[in-house]
Amino acid sequence: MLHGLKPQAADKILALMGMLKADPRPDKIDLGVGVYKDANGLTPIMRAVKAAERRLWESETTKTYTALAGEPAFHAAMAAMILGPGYPEPRVAALATVGGTGAVRQALELVRMAAPDATVWVSDPTWPNHLTILSYLGIKTRAYRYFDGESRGVDFAGMMADLAQATAGDVVLLHGCCHNPTGANLTLPEWAEVAALLERSGALPLIDLAYQGFGDGLEADAAGTRLLAARLPQVLIAASCSKNFGIYRERTGILLAVTPDPATRDLVQGNFAFLNRQNYSFAPDHGSRLVTMILTDAGLRADWQAELEEVRLGMLALREQLAAELRRLSGSDRFGFLGQHRGMFSRLGASPEQVEKMRLENAIYMVGDSRLNIAGLNAATVPVLAKAIIAAGV
Ligand code: LMR
Repeated sequence: MLHGLKPQAADKILALMGMLKADPRPDKIDLGVGVYKDANGLTPIMRAVKAAERRLWESETTKTYTALAGEPAFHAAMAAMILGPGYPEPRVAALATVGGTGAVRQALELVRMAAPDATVWVSDPTWPNHLTILSYLGIKTRAYRYFDGESRGVDFAGMMADLAQATAGDVVLLHGCCHNPTGANLTLPEWAEVAALLERSGALPLIDLAYQGFGDGLEADAAGTRLLAARLPQVLIAASCSKNFGIYRERTGILLAVTPDPATRDLVQGNFAFLNRQNYSFAPDHGSRLVTMILTDAGLRADWQAELEEVRLGMLALREQLAAELRRLSGSDRFGFLGQHRGMFSRLGASPEQVEKMRLENAIYMVGDSRLNIAGLNAATVPVLAKAIIAAGV
């Protein structure tokens, strides 16, 4: 029976991780997978996470099952972080998930249960796993214009023209901040225009919020999401704790549904719990418990926010250094977009051949669409990358 399986194409981002590992060159530079690294190339456990783990180890007395949809305290702490402290709790359903990817998956399963014929609109480009999950679930998709290859900014007019075709019963998948893979983001006035468009059409937004705190700060990165949640009757939000808490392997995420009334909230909440039960029963608890401890303890929270801010500002400084170095080497401002992008990623605009050339000749690893992870750099490797970019003819 099993020989009847079809071979599956490897995920491009994960395949690149394998190639990097197999490369013996000591000076290789990893700009691939979206994992934060410090100046020494390490992905540290954040101080507050370590402290919370110590406390948990001392105080936890049981490993028995928790609530099927996750702990109410985790729901409340995350909803407040994402939607703001005054969020309309009686109208918000919440589900602990297996990482942010699990939240995206459960959201799309919910959409399929509610409206099997729904079309999901995705940005062109988007995170490749969005597309493969959608195709695996058999959900129809349409792309909306997003990235302007010339300016390397958002093609907002194109986006709005395409999304004007989305109707009630469709879903629009948006990146809450730090767009993956491009790094180009909507301004707050643009979010307001998107909200008005969705208000008119009745299409349901699904916001993927995987990088809150990595762009312009915890509050600013949630501003677009909050605006939609305040103006629209229904919003789905899939959020990840992998990056902002640095707990990638703990698989901690949450799916929120802002609904028009408590009765709809209860209906969604029941369906959320059902989805967890069918797919994996209980989501992992360790990571969500740490997050709850950090968010509800003033000292841990302050320390976590301070460290997150160091991480964010470090990435911004690297962006600016890279943009300046490229300005110097190219004698032009054509790489200025690197300083304007936010989050871990920027799409450089190099061809697949140029990306391959940099891998072969300089041991620089970036995703084939020329997405580079800024956090993979340090002050010493920025000039190496800049030189390679110019040498490759980008
Ligand atoms: C990425 O885009 O590199 C991250 O979100 C990690 C992943 O799972 O792809």
